[in-house]
Amino acid sequence: MSSAPDLLADYDLSKPISAATGMRKGLPNYGDPHFALFLRKAFIKALGYSEDALSRPIIGIINTFSAFNPCHANIPQLIDAAKRGVQLNGGLAMEFPTISIHESFSSPTSMFLRNLMSMDTEEMIKAQPVDACIVIGGCDKTVPAQIMGGISSGKPVVPLITGPMMPGSFRGRRIGACTDCRNNWAAFRRDELDVEDIAELNEELAPTAGSCGVMGTASTMACIAAALGLMDLRAGATAPAVSSARLRVAEDTGKKAVKAAMSVIDGNLSPLNLTTILSEASFHNAITVLQAIGGSTNGIVHVLAIANRHPDVASKITLQTIDDIGRKTPLLVDLKPSGDNYMTDLHNAGGMLALLHTLRPLLKLEALTITGQSLGEVLDSTPFKTFPFSHKIIRPLEDPVFASSSLVVLQGNLAPNGAVIKASASKYRQLLSHRGKAVVFAGPADLAARIDDPDLVVDAQSVLVLQGIGPIGFLNPGMPEAGLLPIPKKLAVQGVEDMLRLSDGRMSGTAGGSVVLHISPEAALPESVLGIIKDGDVIVCDVEKRLLEVELTAEQIDQRIAERRERLAGRDEPRGLSERRRRPTRGYRGLYERHVNQAENGVDFDFLTADGATYMAP
Ligand code: FES
Repeated sequence: MSSAPDLLADYDLSKPISAATGMRKGLPNYGDPHFALFLRKAFIKALGYSEDALSRPIIGIINTFSAFNPCHANIPQLIDAAKRGVQLNGGLAMEFPTISIHESFSSPTSMFLRNLMSMDTEEMIKAQPVDACIVIGGCDKTVPAQIMGGISSGKPVVPLITGPMMPGSFRGRRIGACTDCRNNWAAFRRDELDVEDIAELNEELAPTAGSCGVMGTASTMACIAAALGLMDLRAGATAPAVSSARLRVAEDTGKKAVKAAMSVIDGNLSPLNLTTILSEASFHNAITVLQAIGGSTNGIVHVLAIANRHPDVASKITLQTIDDIGRKTPLLVDLKPSGDNYMTDLHNAGGMLALLHTLRPLLKLEALTITGQSLGEVLDSTPFKTFPFSHKIIRPLEDPVFASSSLVVLQGNLAPNGAVIKASASKYRQLLSHRGKAVVFAGPADLAARIDDPDLVVDAQSVLVLQGIGPIGFLNPGMPEAGLLPIPKKLAVQGVEDMLRLSDGRMSGTAGGSVVLHISPEAALPESVLGIIKDGDVIVCDVEKRLLEVELTAEQIDQRIAERRERLAGRDEPRGLSERRRRPTRGYRGLYERHVNQAENGVDFDFLTADGATYMAP
């Protein structure tokens, strides 16, 4: 792998520093590279490294362990195994931290911090002398943040997923975060569970380390990373966090990372960095998988953000691509919230390898993978033998869970730049074609104050509308997962379990219901139609026709927008409007509010996208 180091060559001032790899890569700029290397080696030797070790390809391992992130609790074991894989294959593994984000411990939202994590990931990979990097993530926003940062870093990056948690048990029934958190909380609100029941459930919903065990955002992003060709197909996305298979995946990831590093060090190979591996074909495959697994609506935002980091893909993958692929792709994977089962079942059914074999006619097999082989070559060399259980969890193309378009993109005068709905997770399918009167809430505080008010004018045909939870938002930025508005208590106790709900926010991937999300432009922007909807306006949603409209004329809409602009211009504190974006809000929040783009672009910062260098902020 590496030749014996020439111990003196690094100090030969008559010659330039030898090949810019490993420890010799990316030296601090003191104006004297030999001294910079001399100093670096002096410091790294404080940790006991030998010249032999320091001459190896260096594989960074990003450690996102945090006491506030139980989805990442197994990272210390994964690092041990990944290091083994690196060092068995001739590399030197160097672990370092970046920030870690967990859904429940990130205020205002974890989405607010995703771009910060991607910047941390990108900059630390670029700054430090790594030839390739293993990025360990699992909880919802971590995997997209790491892939986004990995693309922008320009170095080979190999994702390693922490893996899903095991299901728990409540009185003999399997349960798991977080679909069952939400279902049971709704049942508690309907008085079907008492306080002892809900407390007992709380003990079992997340019974082990690992990410949420249903097809939520974390699982969706793990499957997408596999479909993009970035990990082992059999176990990489699905092996449980607490399994020995997960540790073997980590060891294998170490091996893959050394190979990726060597692809760059050895100038004769095609470099296996993310911009080389990923292509329009890879994203086609990722979106096909997103639709076939009934993936999280958050997956749409993340896929768009990832695609927009890639200079050759950015303009080619849009909301329309997601809808177009959806029309041809059946939902095959029977997991909660669209189906009945858990990630461990998908793993036991054959994982992504079985799914990709099933989806083969719909895939672009020429897409490159981290192995250096095309997806078609990987599938050819790893056949999968089906068995009855695999067919139960991964249905054949001719017997799907949902015929097509699990995730649907809507447009119309209420969402000129788009909106999405997870049609397969609708509880009352008649709501997918619905006309009803709006009941409007101006932000989460207003929702909390009035949703259970016995005097709220609402019935089961009403359309619940929540404004101000988009990327910028009225009060708190970060597109909170508040799009699954609770059913008003007075209807819930009558047995109403689903209503048409609309917002500019997101919904947890583990949630279900007839919920339109990501409406763009968001209500916080002055041009937003969502921002001028009033109680009693008639909303029309027709999923078949891909339509989301309010029954107002163009003149009425323009008039209301003009009135709103005038009203807000007179305020000292024009909360949430674009004027506010230009106010000098301090710190990361200021950066976020001034630069975040809308849902259809991935909620990334305008200066981080592939065309960010030339983007002129308004
Ligand atoms: Fe981490 Fe669900 S809270 S994956």
